[in-house]
Amino acid sequence: MPTTTTDIFTEKIERDLAIEPRDPMPEEYRRHLMRQISQHAHSEVIGMQPEGNWITRAPSLRAKMILLAKIQDEGGHGLYLYSAAETLGISREEMIEQLQTGKARYSSVFNYPALTWADIGAIGWLVDGAAIVNQVMLQRTSYGPYARAMVRICKEESFHQRQGYEIMAKMAAGTPEQHEMAQDALNRWWAPALMMFGPSDAESLHSKAAFQWKIKRESNDALRQKFIDKTVQQTEVIGLKVPDPNLRFNAETGHYETSPLNWDEFHRVINGDGPCNRQRLEHHRKFHEEGRWVREACQC
Ligand code: 3HC
Repeated sequence: MPTTTTDIFTEKIERDLAIEPRDPMPEEYRRHLMRQISQHAHSEVIGMQPEGNWITRAPSLRAKMILLAKIQDEGGHGLYLYSAAETLGISREEMIEQLQTGKARYSSVFNYPALTWADIGAIGWLVDGAAIVNQVMLQRTSYGPYARAMVRICKEESFHQRQGYEIMAKMAAGTPEQHEMAQDALNRWWAPALMMFGPSDAESLHSKAAFQWKIKRESNDALRQKFIDKTVQQTEVIGLKVPDPNLRFNAETGHYETSPLNWDEFHRVINGDGPCNRQRLEHHRKFHEEGRWVREACQC
């Protein structure tokens, strides 16, 4: 019969039982999850910015309603995830301070600008599509509150991915200018979406522990490959071209092979030097401050 904290925790992990907030857990496990879940939450909230810029410029009332619904979903995803992180003993205020001071990260993909309406399609199709591949895996993560948040979030992400793909399909089949706009958006969002899965397995700092604790069930590279294999086919269906001259299908492995990613750019962007990093944090600080009165009024 396990008696120590470590034994109880280890037995639950080995038996694939969910670790719950009041369960004994190693401090390193708690800190790993605080980092990952809070950064996941930050990504959801910061990700609202590039899309929010297009609400007033949506090409139709229907398009505007869909975009509004999606952005509202993302805010809700952020709240679920902040709440899941709070069960580990970190406060909302601490997490926001970590984000606003640059101590915490958010997904690199949101440091790129949404330049045209086709970008809204590319974000839904590629960014939410990549997020789904990662988050379906996280529905089986060992920490109970995180896994349960993922179940609800994945249902809504599927709508996000489909609406983005619909925008891209319509534009690709539209006028030559619309087709070119869709291809241009794919050209700019393809690599940043692949980088969402994190560095290569060989370079990943946290994957070894994440597998040991069953936080991760599939590796960064395996999930990236799953996304590539699915998305190349979707690209061909709508008549666009994956922006990679070295893309080729390997009949032996059954996977698509692609060019190596630009990891120098990845590290530059995640360390604060992407096209929109400063703008994203300034925006967050400004509107978080403007919303202070609402938070204070709710506390009374
Ligand atoms: N952007 C920013 N930082 C990244 C990153 C990315 N795309 N990929 C990795 N990193 C960071 C990690 O945070 C870590 O830095 P840290 O120690 O300062 O936190 C470092 O690079 C090393 O990477 P590892 O692979 O070792 O880190 P992880 O094991 O944490 O794996 C991850 C990275 C795969 C992103 C993992 O954290 C994860 O699965 N997170 C949950 C999913 C998530 O956050 N997705 C973000 C997008 S959410 C979204 O798109 C919303 C949708 O609705 C649009």
